[in-house]
Amino acid sequence: MAEMDPVKLMKQEVGRAAAAKVQSDTVVGLGTGSTTAFAIQFLGDRLASGELKNIKGVPTSFQASVLAKKYGIPLTTLDEVDKIDIAIDGADEVDPQFNLIKGGGAAHTREKIVDGLAEQFIVVVDSSKLVEKLGSTFALPVEVLPMAVAPVTRALTALGATVDLRMGVNKDGPVITDQGNMVLDAKFEAIANPAEMEAHINNIPGVLENGLFVGVATEVLVGEVKDGQASVR
Ligand code: 5RP
Repeated sequence: MAEMDPVKLMKQEVGRAAAAKVQSDTVVGLGTGSTTAFAIQFLGDRLASGELKNIKGVPTSFQASVLAKKYGIPLTTLDEVDKIDIAIDGADEVDPQFNLIKGGGAAHTREKIVDGLAEQFIVVVDSSKLVEKLGSTFALPVEVLPMAVAPVTRALTALGATVDLRMGVNKDGPVITDQGNMVLDAKFEAIANPAEMEAHINNIPGVLENGLFVGVATEVLVGEVKDGQASVR
């Protein structure tokens, strides 16, 4: 049998560790991305084996809802539940205070709603995502109403960012979010004050939400690969 790529193996182990923290009779926020996809798969496995019972998932994207259905996780909505016990989601950068940049999958608007309501929010990443200062490696995703792309680009540029409209994989059109909007990727040198920047950007007319998650994460599970072996800390 072909050996699994070590990075994929590591994502799988982080996803498994996060899924193991979910208890029966809970409402679970289901994040978006390749690492969380493994957590969703393992939640489905635990339900199928009977080890876990009666959970309901709140998906953060169309992608997460498709995966949840595939792995047999019953879904609910924020109209039906008054709290989320635990959320599992990936991130693109994590700073030492557990502040995050998210939105590499263009899902940060729904992710912030769901993850922010969770009593326990577990972030699943690999060690390459750990940074001293947010913004140092990853551009900040900003979801924007299509008619406001030009003025918001100018406003972000005035804040010191280099701004790109996110294009689809074939570069033949912009990425469209689950809400029907577009994403501007704003690359700063580093973001000195994430809380201030989060509020400031969300105040620009035409911005729906940006990918700074400040003070939301309660735990970060970090996967590593050493000598071809995956581990989680
Ligand atoms: C989606 C996200 C993802 O969680 C983030 O991009 C990490 O994804 P992956 O686990 O594939 O690296 O924020 O909007």
